[in-house]
Amino acid sequence: MGELTPVGRTALGAALWRIAHLLVDGEPKIFVDTLAQRLVGVSDEDVIKAKAAFPESTAAWVLRSRYAEDRLAEAIARGVTQYVVLGAGLDTFAYRTAGAFDGLRVFEVDTPESQSWKRGRLERANIRIPASCEFVPCNFETQSLAEAFAGSTFDPSRPAFVSWLAVTMYLQREAIEKTLRWISGLGPSTELVLTYCVPEARSGGGVRFADQMGARFVSFFSTAEMERLLRETGFEETRPLTFDEARSVYFGGRTDGLQPSATELLMWARVAPIDRKTA
Ligand SMILES: C[S@@+](CC[C@H](N)C(=O)[O-])C[C@H]1O[C@@H](n2cnc3c(N)ncnc32)[C@H](O)[C@@H]1O
Repeated sequence: MGELTPVGRTALGAALWRIAHLLVDGEPKIFVDTLAQRLVGVSDEDVIKAKAAFPESTAAWVLRSRYAEDRLAEAIARGVTQYVVLGAGLDTFAYRTAGAFDGLRVFEVDTPESQSWKRGRLERANIRIPASCEFVPCNFETQSLAEAFAGSTFDPSRPAFVSWLAVTMYLQREAIEKTLRWISGLGPSTELVLTYCVPEARSGGGVRFADQMGARFVSFFSTAEMERLLRETGFEETRPLTFDEARSVYFGGRTDGLQPSATELLMWARVAPIDRKTA
């Protein structure tokens, strides 16, 4: 099993916080990751202890997965059959839903180090990688996604649904732009859900959380800057998930005070429905 980089370790932290949501937060659950605890191989007691030692809200961690999977379900209902999970970390979608969506292929992208570590964890937890899931190793800073995908069954000319959760803050702007351009060059109506941190996040819990793992946030955007960047890199539509919308759709009826994050935000974007290159 390869050595994990500090940024790779943040994937473990994210999975831990998804588990903590199930063990510590009240009802209703915002996101139920039924495999995270088995994959991480951690006891209830250790998760509860970790959460007590670092009482940061789990809201950002669970909302991003829930929102992305809600949008993905709509895309699948419209006939999309390719799901690209950029910076997948310990995401468990492919294993939780194996066989549930006819014809759906899942492509997990992460650094070679993170992927070999995840393979080891999956093996230890006795979780099989389904035939519908492929690992595509790629470092967004140093490698080309087009080249990385060349050896896979992914068809870049067809529409895809892409999630990029809790990754942009760890990347230099050039790598973010390059990745967005690759996504916007995929098939017509390709959709993206990503998270980004606003400058106020510099003094927030996400930075402290990453710091604990030795990782550093390097990129921040206001919502207007992120929408501009998405348009400049080839997306036709952009839709931020506002704090109020997140609260009313996902955080209603709670008694535990859990609220959406005000510093790690979600954005949905879509490329043009017609391929402008061939239209
Ligand atoms: C905070 S974790 C998020 C994991 C997952 N998306 C989630 O929400 O739980 C960040 C992930 O991005 C990956 N990552 C960070 N920098 C990367 C890079 N330059 N190239 C590829 N993956 C990267 C890390 O290995 C890690 O798995």
